[in-house]
Amino acid sequence: MKKAKISGVGCYYPDNIVTNDDLAKIVDTSDEWIHKRTGIRKRRLSTGENTSDLAVMAAKNAIKNAGLAPEDIDSIILATTSPDFLTPSTAAVVQGKIGAKNAASFDILAACSGFIYGLKIGKSFIESGAYKKVLVIGAEVLSKILDWNDRNTCVLFGDGAGAAVLEAAEEGGIETVHIGTYGDKAELLTCKSHPLNNPYYKEDQDTFDKISMDGREVFKFATNIMPEQINLLLKENNLKIEDIKYIIPHQANLRIIETAAKKLNIGMEKFYVNLNEYGNTSAACIPICMDEMNRQGLLNKGDKIITVAFGGGLTYGAALIIWNK
Ligand code: ACO
Repeated sequence: MKKAKISGVGCYYPDNIVTNDDLAKIVDTSDEWIHKRTGIRKRRLSTGENTSDLAVMAAKNAIKNAGLAPEDIDSIILATTSPDFLTPSTAAVVQGKIGAKNAASFDILAACSGFIYGLKIGKSFIESGAYKKVLVIGAEVLSKILDWNDRNTCVLFGDGAGAAVLEAAEEGGIETVHIGTYGDKAELLTCKSHPLNNPYYKEDQDTFDKISMDGREVFKFATNIMPEQINLLLKENNLKIEDIKYIIPHQANLRIIETAAKKLNIGMEKFYVNLNEYGNTSAACIPICMDEMNRQGLLNKGDKIITVAFGGGLTYGAALIIWNK
């Protein structure tokens, strides 16, 4: 059976840089609080680009990095919690805009774990022979569904997009991917869609909702699931933590990553962190990190990396990847 490998990566984010001090002019917060409690210093926020606009740029960069043309792509999987429309899918909009005329396209919603869910689907497509060149995108303009009066959430997130091209490989590649859900904890992180409204029933509330989150409970979940999933990947693949060059964690909060590092008894140098620059870009975090690391020359052929995420659902995802781009 053929394996799936990552053959190209790309990312894109809006130009508009918003610092913690800028946010302190909007809500009752401070650079000191945000940085101390989260590690975040700034984020990018859209001044007009929608999710598909960011996704298109990330997709083009990833396809170019893979040495392919848009027509070579035969399926597009786009993970987002902040789509342009309920229909068409953001993946369909991207397919049209980049001219990937041979690609089937659809969105998935698994919040911040969405990109790893996409990797799992893309890997299955390639291993089964269903598709040969799969584009997996994580793209978010979460700023449009944030409550800009809620300091508990609005300071945490940023807008951005990242993408990876998956192709068949003889060896290495995406070795193992785990995804899972604790739907009994769904209410901990929500953003409602349309209220019920038809000739037979009408809810009181008639506007779209905003993101609301029980930060402390999500924090507990994250600091348990990250070490649990990393240890599981190591055990299943008969590896030790020393065998792993980098861990790419979901970029939600530096304290979450530090707690996970402590539980795993390893130093922070193994974790790639850029949340200070971009905040939490949800499904886009991991491919943005991969692209940055690739451009910085941090990833070499044969390196074993683990990526791990958690998010609304509550969902989680973790993957062991042998880099062979
Ligand atoms: N500025 C100043 N004070 C604040 C701010 C702020 N931006 N936000 C909260 N506070 C206050 C609170 O009101 C509270 O005040 P009180 O004690 O007077 O009530 C105090 O700070 C402490 O609040 P906590 O919620 O206990 O702060 P905590 O240390 O837990 O940090 C945080 C909050 C950053 C949200 C943390 O819990 C966290 O990171 N949780 C995980 C969130 C996450 O990872 N989400 C990822 C999934 S996202 C997705 O899937 C889309």
